[in-house]
Amino acid sequence: MSNYHIKNLEEYFQVYRKSVRNPEVFWEEIAEEHFVWRKKWNSVLNWNKEDARVTWFEGAQLNITENCIDRHLVVNADKTALIFEPNDPTEDYKTYTYKELSVAVNKMANVLKSKGIEKGDRVCIYLPMIPELTIALLACARIGAVHSVVFAGFSSSALASRINDSACKMVITSDGAYRGAKDIDLKSIVDEALISCDSVETCLVVERTKGNVNFVEGRDEWIAPLLDAASDDCPAEIMEAEDPLFILYTSGSTGKPKGMVHTCGGYMVYTAYTFKNVFQYQKGDVYWCTADIGWITGHSYIVYGPLANGATTLMFEGVPSYPSYDRFWDVVEKHKVNQFYTAPTAIRALAKQQVDYVEKHDLTSLKVLGTVGEPINEEAWHWYNDNIGKRKSPIVDTWWQTETGGMMLSPLAYITPTKPTFATLPIPGVQPALMDENGNEISGNSVEGRLCIKHPWPSMARTIWGNHERYKETYFSAYKDMYFTGDGALRDEVGYFRITGRVDDVIIVSGHNLGTAPIEDAINEHPAVAESAIVGFAHDVKGNALYGYVTLKDSGKSRKEENLRKEINQVITEHVGPIAKLDKIQFTNGLPKTRSGKIMRRILRKIANNEMDNLGDISTLLNPDCVEEIIEGRL
Ligand code: WT7
Repeated sequence: MSNYHIKNLEEYFQVYRKSVRNPEVFWEEIAEEHFVWRKKWNSVLNWNKEDARVTWFEGAQLNITENCIDRHLVVNADKTALIFEPNDPTEDYKTYTYKELSVAVNKMANVLKSKGIEKGDRVCIYLPMIPELTIALLACARIGAVHSVVFAGFSSSALASRINDSACKMVITSDGAYRGAKDIDLKSIVDEALISCDSVETCLVVERTKGNVNFVEGRDEWIAPLLDAASDDCPAEIMEAEDPLFILYTSGSTGKPKGMVHTCGGYMVYTAYTFKNVFQYQKGDVYWCTADIGWITGHSYIVYGPLANGATTLMFEGVPSYPSYDRFWDVVEKHKVNQFYTAPTAIRALAKQQVDYVEKHDLTSLKVLGTVGEPINEEAWHWYNDNIGKRKSPIVDTWWQTETGGMMLSPLAYITPTKPTFATLPIPGVQPALMDENGNEISGNSVEGRLCIKHPWPSMARTIWGNHERYKETYFSAYKDMYFTGDGALRDEVGYFRITGRVDDVIIVSGHNLGTAPIEDAINEHPAVAESAIVGFAHDVKGNALYGYVTLKDSGKSRKEENLRKEINQVITEHVGPIAKLDKIQFTNGLPKTRSGKIMRRILRKIANNEMDNLGDISTLLNPDCVEEIIEGRL
């Protein structure tokens, strides 16, 4: 029996039991049989519970690009590695065979080296969904530079703070980005950010939209001529298994974004293993994940997981509604996609359109459907199952996080019987636990609690860049010797898990993880604003939308509310990005606070969701009177 590829439910249970009985033997066999190492490990797992320090495959040496590219060149050099589907369907799509990808990655790696990038240096990548994005990640990995991808929808100040947090030496960007009918000036966003980024020595620019750009002499350069001149031979840097591979920022409930650090060895093993088993990827399949590489989903399941398996992975530059609402189905038909992985928010938006958009396309190539990013509601699940999967393709509802690196709870396609809205069972090696508020594990089935993971797994983030204390505090202090996920979950009568949502102040809007703190900080920058609090409220497409409660300074009270609303959303766009704009902004004279001065978001959340009959005890508030006013002014 191969541990690597599970083929039926009985085998899943056997493998799972083994993985819990002896996690080290389990992962060691997988690592040993399915990857290329320059040197084997001294120990499989080290876990220092006191300091929340975990290592996997310590002492091993490898380069992830040798696993994602070079080893496939032996027999699969001419197999398609990457399909690029552009924003505009009339523009030719592009493909890269493994050989071509190898050449492109080596050239870019040599360009980075020629600009002084060395092992361990951080490189910020701020690019749209074009092939150079995938190539840039792999080029960094090739030479041991740590990539930090910032989603190209983030504003200049969000970009600057991420660049500064990890002191990136280089930025790779493009002149512009196409997104649906829009044309976005990426380079000018970078220019603004770089005013306050002293660490950046070089900015390499990919040409995409041919828009006007300003170049700073000595810092900025077009990448194309450099690539043309570069050698296509670049030996892979030999990395320790525990060397950082990348940093990816995610929001926390308080404070600035957290730079989650993922390392080379464990991340590779785990993302490859989960990709293969969850999607049951077969040789020759075309796989498409619609996420942006700016998020962890794209890192793990557009780039590393698929390529480590020698798969064909599709990347799409555009949006589901352009040029019309059948674009996803058009792409599925055009490239005969076999596995399709998207987010509930996209499914809900498409389910609102006429079903003709789906029906005019031949979707018979589809074998597996996936969803990720937030809980999927019953209605969206059925629409996806009926109309896209034609009740024949299983839906893998994959629960995981930026911090977990890879999928944690998910059905395995065609193996685990699915259940609408349930992420079902743990991936082998994952030991979920539901905890009560007193720190006790809740055993048995038909129970609900806070979701923790009891044992380390290879792709867990090792630390927060520059702040291990915060890592320890955020993930390992709530429950003894356990990783706390921040999510609530229930376990049904047969042991299937369903995620019920965040139990902290993180709000998931259209699948994007938004912390309340940075948005409130942005709102408070507006000169007329005294104080603000934001909460999520149920939205039929976005899952959650943002509701802001704002108190004004005296100087702001005479202003027109409509204008203030526009300006507040403008400041949010500048500081965080357009994804964090508020759907509703209510002005009020006070925000409910505890006696110690903490804003009671729980009450505000209930009001925003029209759940006024169960506000709980408000008599202990510092200012209970404001609750009445807020209810009356509810939007
Ligand atoms: C949060 C993590 C994992 C990549 C995308 C998001 C929520 C994620 C599911 C799911 C219910 C889900 C959780 C989690 N979430 N997948 N299948 N069912 N909730 O990564 O930005 O780090 O967000 O997304 O609340 O904690 P992220």
